[in-house]
Amino acid sequence: MLIKKADGIASSEITPKETYLNRRKFLASAALTGAAAATGVAFRELVHPSTIAQANATAPANAKIEGLKKSPFSTTEKETPYKDVTTYNNFYEFSTDKDGPAELAKNFKTRPWTVTIDGLVKKKQELDIDAIMKMAAQEERIYRHRCVEGWSIVVPWAGFSLSELVKRAESLGKAKFVEFTTLYDPKQMPGQRVNVLKWPYVEGLRMDEAMHPLALLCFGLYGEALPNQDGAPIRIVIPWKYGFKSAKSIVRIRFTEEQPVNTWQASAPSEYGFYSNVNPNVDHPRWSQAKERRLGEFFKRATLMFNGYDQVASLYSGMDLKKNF
Ligand code: MTE
Repeated sequence: MLIKKADGIASSEITPKETYLNRRKFLASAALTGAAAATGVAFRELVHPSTIAQANATAPANAKIEGLKKSPFSTTEKETPYKDVTTYNNFYEFSTDKDGPAELAKNFKTRPWTVTIDGLVKKKQELDIDAIMKMAAQEERIYRHRCVEGWSIVVPWAGFSLSELVKRAESLGKAKFVEFTTLYDPKQMPGQRVNVLKWPYVEGLRMDEAMHPLALLCFGLYGEALPNQDGAPIRIVIPWKYGFKSAKSIVRIRFTEEQPVNTWQASAPSEYGFYSNVNPNVDHPRWSQAKERRLGEFFKRATLMFNGYDQVASLYSGMDLKKNF
């Protein structure tokens, strides 16, 4: 994301390129056995189990996800190399530099991890990450992912439709929006010691957007658990919206009547809106959105309306997308 360039991140916290390039690929033997688990687990049964082993506190980085199904929503476009997807990141909680999160997030603890479900729901509760991952069978979804800055990637994500969780949350009729909040932990997240954004990072979706089958609750990429820098252990991926809508390392999902104020909108309301649908016809006030550069490619390509995901167009029929940017 581009705002007036953040200062205040100590240069000692910025990783030299050689360091991450030489980073040894860490292989964990534990497979994520829950990934292909049966669907239909009752939501109430998933309340935070007291059995989470503290010993399991380090991230299961590179743990393979077994039994991933292919998704009809996948693009057949060429996937962006794993190295680019995992070393060119926006994750301001760790660094405002693209190559910073890969190094600075490597010891980030993703177990135990719970997600609070609250707001306009019948029953507020805390769910354990491993239970959430078993709510439905995970799929591999190869999505285009377009950052508002003008770069894009094609990633084989792993997860299931966000609607699977939303429908089990038993939200009340009044709930019109879903808000997602990232972990706030400045001890682990050095970027949060700097006021570059208002922490914690918050994002939101209208309920019908959250229920759209393309909206993905994501736990992995390239058949493995999410690397920390890509939002472990749980993030959303909303492929028809600019990348900043896809909040990482989520700890809270809140159902609301009021439209949430997302972090980037709060930071620069004239530049970043609530909807943030990919739209080549609506420029960012400081640059055009008509084209994008796929990481690893030289020539730019045309950006497509809704990032090419035309099946969401009906969600916005009758809306002025210049006003609701
Ligand atoms: N989520 C949090 N919590 N913090 C962030 O800084 N950056 C967003 C989004 N989610 C961000 C975030 C932006 S601007 C983009 S483009 C995508 O994450 C990048 O995801 P990736 O690094 O996996 O490609």
